[in-house]
Amino acid sequence: MITCLEFFSGIGGLHHALNVAGIDASVAKAFDMNEVANKVYQHTFGSAPSNKAIDRLTVKDIERYNADCWLLSPPCQPYTRGGKLQDSEDQRAKPLLHLITLLPKLSILPRYIFLENVKNFECSQSREALVNQLDSLDYYIQECLLSPTQFGIPNHRLRYYLIARRRDTPSDSEGYIERAIIHECWPFDGERIEFKTPSISAFLDLEETDAEQHLVPEKYLTKSNNFRFDITKPSGHQTSCFTKAYGSHHIQTSGSMLQTKNLEVSSYDWAHPESLLSLGLRYFTPTEVARLHAFPMPPWKNETTDTQEPSVNSITPRQYEAPHCTPHLKFPDDIKIIQKHRLLGNSLNCWVVAELYRCLMFID
Ligand SMILES: C[S@@+](CC[C@H](N)C(=O)[O-])C[C@H]1O[C@@H](n2cnc3c(N)ncnc32)[C@H](O)[C@@H]1O
Repeated sequence: MITCLEFFSGIGGLHHALNVAGIDASVAKAFDMNEVANKVYQHTFGSAPSNKAIDRLTVKDIERYNADCWLLSPPCQPYTRGGKLQDSEDQRAKPLLHLITLLPKLSILPRYIFLENVKNFECSQSREALVNQLDSLDYYIQECLLSPTQFGIPNHRLRYYLIARRRDTPSDSEGYIERAIIHECWPFDGERIEFKTPSISAFLDLEETDAEQHLVPEKYLTKSNNFRFDITKPSGHQTSCFTKAYGSHHIQTSGSMLQTKNLEVSSYDWAHPESLLSLGLRYFTPTEVARLHAFPMPPWKNETTDTQEPSVNSITPRQYEAPHCTPHLKFPDDIKIIQKHRLLGNSLNCWVVAELYRCLMFID
């Protein structure tokens, strides 16, 4: 069994992905400073993450778990435009840089390292520091930029992933960074696979009567004069990336709105936003966003049921199938809808990570 440490654990997307992939692994300790995220994590997995700041962890704090694997999804703000692109100078980059400096001080290095971040991380100084450190410590590194849409899931979420495995014998080739390739196709090499993408309707949750509380408030729509935002229908096959601002008044870039009425209307008069009021526009519910992010959830009635051959040991890419492994993602009752959206917007797509674990990381 592989023993993992999960840094920046949030609601545990990287932990869930281990279960989705069917990897024989356990998470010995998770680390996160966000108390709301930690509450959800504990409610789901039954163990509380440490809330000690990651930039203050010592070698001793880490060595006590004898971990073979590090899972990391550090804050993305240092590498996004909204976060002013300060990269390594941004305080929020410090915990990752701290872990990079701690690594060579460990008496036993983890065999596997997995990192998830936003597009743009690939051109950052933080990524340069990370790959240079891993290269000097004899890790075999793979990097990619992939979106769930490439895996047959109707949601855009282009993310950077790094998969590193420690070599058994040191390599004589040096200078990984000069010959690095950031893969943008899935699978990386070999034949393209045509994954079938289910329609949005296969992820929906609500009976018409429950929809009221998820409707986009009229004032958000009427103030959106000439601003376009993404509207999708149940028959559609695409949604835009859900961010941590989803569910708030930031309707332009935070994720798709679902059209539930007058479904024959497909051309929108953005200059007269009151014309949008008849479309029954609502937010996707947190449950629906969690399904689109492929978190393990209980089965639901309209999910696609295209079951495939189980492939526990095979490392060939799989067609997406809604994961139902346990534990399911569960929110404590006192977590508000807006908090759930914030946590989900910060999280990741468990299916994409599970496929990278299965096909590229845990292959020996
Ligand atoms: C991008 S989110 C990770 C989300 C996670 N992968 C998930 O599935 O929910 C980054 C996380 O890092 C945590 N974080 C940021 N700085 C931290 C620090 N110095 N120490 C501990 N946690 C930190 C934040 O609270 C946030 O939950």
